[in-house]
Amino acid sequence: MRLIIPNIVLKRIFVFLLFLLNGNLFCFGQTPSTADLLNMVDKGFNEGARQYALFQKRLAPDRFPRSYNANSDSLLVSNSGWWCSGFYPGTLLYLYEQTKNSQLLTEAERILKLLSKEQYNKDTHDLGFMMYCSFGNANRIQASEEYKQILINSAKSLSSRFDSVVGCIRSWNSKQPNDYLVIIDNMMNLELLFWATKATGDSSYYKIAVTHANTTIKNHFRPDYSSYHVVNYDAGTGAIHQKKTAQGYADESAWARGQAWGLYGFTAMYRETRNKKYLDQATHIADFILKHPNLPKDKIPYWDFNAPDIPNTFRDASAAAIIASALLELEKYVSKVNSQKYLSVAEQILQNLSTQAYTAAMGTNGGFILKHSVGSLPGNSEVDMPLTYADYYYIEALGRLKKILTN
Ligand code: GLY
Repeated sequence: MRLIIPNIVLKRIFVFLLFLLNGNLFCFGQTPSTADLLNMVDKGFNEGARQYALFQKRLAPDRFPRSYNANSDSLLVSNSGWWCSGFYPGTLLYLYEQTKNSQLLTEAERILKLLSKEQYNKDTHDLGFMMYCSFGNANRIQASEEYKQILINSAKSLSSRFDSVVGCIRSWNSKQPNDYLVIIDNMMNLELLFWATKATGDSSYYKIAVTHANTTIKNHFRPDYSSYHVVNYDAGTGAIHQKKTAQGYADESAWARGQAWGLYGFTAMYRETRNKKYLDQATHIADFILKHPNLPKDKIPYWDFNAPDIPNTFRDASAAAIIASALLELEKYVSKVNSQKYLSVAEQILQNLSTQAYTAAMGTNGGFILKHSVGSLPGNSEVDMPLTYADYYYIEALGRLKKILTN
């Protein structure tokens, strides 16, 4: 009789052996059982679905949740043009997929109608976040001609911001005519373009995504594979005027969420192209993050890896959630040793985010699932508050972990 041991069991045995061999290698305390992890995942989905039902009671019909002020018990909201407007429907859809609670789908469909006009918005580079996290998931769950057309129009609008001399999609608009500002976050908008090439057969979207990623590798990264937040190119020649870190501590610092966007973005680049150069970039970024001396033992990063007041400063749950989700994809593409390491760190992040320290008690936090994210500390905006994208990538990561555990 042949004994067939499922892959995930082998992985967990391997992680346990590594733990025995070198207890402080990954700084975890106890290796959780698969059953414990699955319980955590299901609890996350069920409680997340209950939390998200709160939004339906509080949201004005034309508003999107943005954050929550606990002192005044007020929901901070936005219109559909805010860069985060896709995360609320995206999270509803992920939760619907996992719980089959039809109210979540109904609410997602309601809010998607409000969001759909952004398909023609050429004033932002955030259309990937806004339209792919929302309509991309909606179309994946239940494909429709309407969703497809919205996504194609969104990809067209995003592509209109590409310039072949600079080799990038323009991120932020600037009053200075010569400025051409590109931020690392923009890597997250490229999945929409890959989808559009697959949907239409038009390779121009694919080429724009690849060119943007190549220019980003060339100009956004430091020798240690940390990244600047903003590169300001000359709009006419593509020469570099400045490299900055607008939402981090200093221009030369490693803003935590920026590193997370880079990790996730280059992992997705490898998925879409199978070009090893992107896999190498993603693993280098992962190494930078995981080996950083200022990454705390619980693996929830401070808002900036170089914040001068570490450890007396804010954690960023959103960066942690994005990193966990990215690692749960990257682990599929790398060597066994790296795969175990990424899986183990992602599990640890999700375990910590799922504790009371980061997960809000039911009925609190205005409806958001996670507490303690940092939007922009230099801008004094959304500091130590819940954020829609922290919830989105947390639920996405739980879904990815569940898939790995049940495979
Ligand atoms: N600009 C997007 C972010 O705050 O990560």
